[in-house]
Amino acid sequence: MVQRNRLRKAVFPVAGLGTRFLPATKAVPKEMLTVVDKPVIQYVVDEAAEAGIEHFVFVTGRGKGVIEDYFDIQYELEQTLKARNKNAELTLLSGLLPKAGSASFTRQQEPLGLGHAVWCARDIVGREPFALLLPDMIMRGDKGCLKGMVELYDKAGGNIVAVEECATDQTHKYGIVGVGEALEGGFRITEMVEKPAKGTAPSNFFINGRYILQPEIFAILETQERGAGNEIQLTDGMLKLAREQAFAGYHFKGQTFDCGAKDGFILANVSFAIERADIRPMIEEPLKALLAALK
Ligand code: G1P
Repeated sequence: MVQRNRLRKAVFPVAGLGTRFLPATKAVPKEMLTVVDKPVIQYVVDEAAEAGIEHFVFVTGRGKGVIEDYFDIQYELEQTLKARNKNAELTLLSGLLPKAGSASFTRQQEPLGLGHAVWCARDIVGREPFALLLPDMIMRGDKGCLKGMVELYDKAGGNIVAVEECATDQTHKYGIVGVGEALEGGFRITEMVEKPAKGTAPSNFFINGRYILQPEIFAILETQERGAGNEIQLTDGMLKLAREQAFAGYHFKGQTFDCGAKDGFILANVSFAIERADIRPMIEEPLKALLAALK
């Protein structure tokens, strides 16, 4: 059955502990680490807003309250900026503030996996399709990844996952899909497997952390057994949903930075900084000198 109800909501699972970034993440959520001068989560929310998302649902956890504060007015700061005539900073802050009532927060009480985190958003999402954006992944392309997915969704309906190609020796790190009939911008998905053992992956197309899902996934996740890593896996839930509904892969052709890993995070910082007209002139020569010194 093709379902094309309008997509209005996006879910951001931001409860992860960020153990790969200790000690920084002992007191600061990994989603609040900055790429140039914005928290990682801001890039991901911007991608959702560019795709037309109107309601932002954050699945947080203990110690993540600062994410909620970040998406609110900071009254004392704004008063101080006003008193000092710092108008550019005021405009910047107000431009990033979600509309009143358009952000919701719920908590994942235990780290039981991505499937469980998504299930925690069920009441806020309700009976409508939703986007899911993993906040570790920052993407850059001519068009935002989710925007491209929405274009495919408007034609194909059903469920969409964004995919990219990886080296064949890296497939065990990701959810991997099987490739079927070609579609404009992607293809039909024939199978999905979470972190396949080396040599068993159906392709080298990995799920890159962007999804459009139908609400029937929630009932499936409710009873989903633990899978890879002893966690409730979203991919296992999607496999069950795929028995009843279509799944398509959107082939994202831009750049992706896995900011949950140190290399991806550092590369994102360098890469976004050199794109910035205000920063590039300050770092171009020192960066070249650093690279030259590596030889
Ligand atoms: C999750 C998903 C996996 C996906 C990956 C992308 O895994 O379960 O299917 O390929 O994100 O980053 P995690 O990175 O949380 O282990």
